[in-house]
Amino acid sequence: MQERDPATVFAPFNVTVRDGRELLVREIGERDKAGLLAAFNQLSADARYTRFMAAMRQLPEAMLEQATHPSPEHEFALVAIATENDAPAIVGGARYAAAPGSDACEFAVTVSDDWHGLGLASQLLRVLIDVATRRGYRRMDGYVLSSNTAMRRLAKRLGFADTPCPDDATLRVVTLALQASGQ
Ligand SMILES: CC(C)(COP(=O)(O)OP(=O)(O)OC[C@H]1O[C@@H](n2cnc3c(N)ncnc32)[C@H](O)[C@@H]1OP(=O)(O)O)[C@@H](O)C(=O)NCCC(=O)NCCS
Repeated sequence: MQERDPATVFAPFNVTVRDGRELLVREIGERDKAGLLAAFNQLSADARYTRFMAAMRQLPEAMLEQATHPSPEHEFALVAIATENDAPAIVGGARYAAAPGSDACEFAVTVSDDWHGLGLASQLLRVLIDVATRRGYRRMDGYVLSSNTAMRRLAKRLGFADTPCPDDATLRVVTLALQASGQ
């Protein structure tokens, strides 16, 4: 599952969102620390809560460090960068991490409030699904607040099943079986 071969190398690419604007999507890295912090600071309190499932006023340094240094073996993370202004800005991010002891991975996705409803999260999640499939994962899960209708609808549209979380009535688990092409 963790083997890397040339077929699983990820090359940066441009995406166009529904209003015609273009973004660069690439893997996250050390150089994104300041940009990620700026993106976090611009998120609404609501968006922070739905993403982290906790009231987060600040992004702790340890989380920033971890977010910008995903383990190549067990994690994969993307940023979407708006390049239309002089200063490029991170306006979206998506990641998955391996669920220990299984062939599943768990995703999370966030889009800056100003970029909602343009199909960006859908595009990022599709890329995550493709990469996770090519890297041998068989299932992708997400833990989503029951009240997060935007995320639940998006997941359903991409084919995820949406079921109650056995341990927590405020959460739903969205699950997608991943199948390599030809299987
Ligand atoms: C949930 C979240 C990631 C969605 O991001 P987004 O980029 O706005 O999502 P999308 O644009 O792909 O989809 C949202 C809507 O746009 C619509 N849309 C997307 N692409 C479209 C297209 N090409 N044409 C028409 N409509 C489109 C979708 O139909 C969807 O509408 P719906 O709410 O009726 O389903 C975003 O709200 C967010 O970051 N929230 C805070 C963090 C969070 O909750 N993360 C999830 C926990 S992991």
